[in-house]
Amino acid sequence: MNLRVPGPTPLPPEVIAAVGRQMIDHRGPEFEAMFGEITAGLKRFFETDGDVLILTTSGTGGMEAAVVNTLSPGDRVLAVTIGAFGDRFAEIAEAYGAEVTRLSFPMGQAADPARVAREVAESGPYAAVLLTHNETSTGVTNDLESLCRAIQAAANPAPLILVDAISSLGGIRLCADAWGCDVVVTSSQKAWAAPPGLAMVSFGERAWAAYARAKMPRFYLDLGQAKKYAQRNQTPATPNVAALYGLQVSLRQMVDEGTAAIYARHARIGAHCRRGIVELGLGLFADPAHYSNTVTAVTLRDDLRASDLLRALRSRYGVVCASSKAPGAEMIRIGHMGHVSEADLDEVLAALRELTAG
Ligand SMILES: Cc1ncc(COP(=O)(O)O)c(C=O)c1O
Repeated sequence: MNLRVPGPTPLPPEVIAAVGRQMIDHRGPEFEAMFGEITAGLKRFFETDGDVLILTTSGTGGMEAAVVNTLSPGDRVLAVTIGAFGDRFAEIAEAYGAEVTRLSFPMGQAADPARVAREVAESGPYAAVLLTHNETSTGVTNDLESLCRAIQAAANPAPLILVDAISSLGGIRLCADAWGCDVVVTSSQKAWAAPPGLAMVSFGERAWAAYARAKMPRFYLDLGQAKKYAQRNQTPATPNVAALYGLQVSLRQMVDEGTAAIYARHARIGAHCRRGIVELGLGLFADPAHYSNTVTAVTLRDDLRASDLLRALRSRYGVVCASSKAPGAEMIRIGHMGHVSEADLDEVLAALRELTAG
């Protein structure tokens, strides 16, 4: 099976072996050594000297943690959304009683930093801005550095910047400290080539200052508790030990490959996928200036139906791609993050060539 959905992503053989290991005491020395190693490895990718906390939840739980640990009911929040996952971030903040303003950009487009800055300057003050680094529903990567700089220049004090980097981090570069991202969330089943079940969240100094004031309810996702336990390389509740086994081995491989080499590989494979799609006469949904290197959204000719194509890819070629998350858009999405090579994409492209011929 060639699993080409944008998460969960395929596991390298060594990671598969690791997740099948016997359990260990999560209050014992073996666990503490593993947790410490994973945390140190993650910090290289977040590019932060601040805290990186590991939660046993999917990515959505990490987004919820970002919100409830920094905000209070009634806080004004600007949700910059370019697709389904930006909308989800807004919904989470609304669910906890924030007063959310949505600044939506058309599907397939990136957020315009100048437009975001204008909103922050003219309609603020906002307690926080919610951003998506890589919008998995449309295959668009926002220019996160420019967005952060524009927000910081637009208001003093600048609103907190909370970032969903669930489908980018580990495959596309993000510099949490240098760009001033106060909270960044990612998730194990994406570019980390580990099983689902862990959210990894960086939390900077400004975020901790907000934490002290934040009044939204929190218990399982309380990052103050997570930090207290992380100081001795533990977690407040029983963690997903098997996913941590996998993440430890995957991170070792990632550290060996090197951050720059990983980002270059994702860029190369993203370009390879897009080139192949265009050669087949199919379309690319995203704005060319903001193509994602971890997921490609492919638009189809009028004579093709996404559901038929996905079914044939799966049953006849063992290739599993994802359906559209853009209402009304007839498209399929191809994931290419984590443990992936050009050869994996060549299989997808060869199958698509046969299925779309004529
Ligand atoms: C950008 C983005 N945000 C949030 C999520 C939700 O993550 P999860 O399904 O792990 O809760 C996803 C998952 O696809 C995603 O790609």
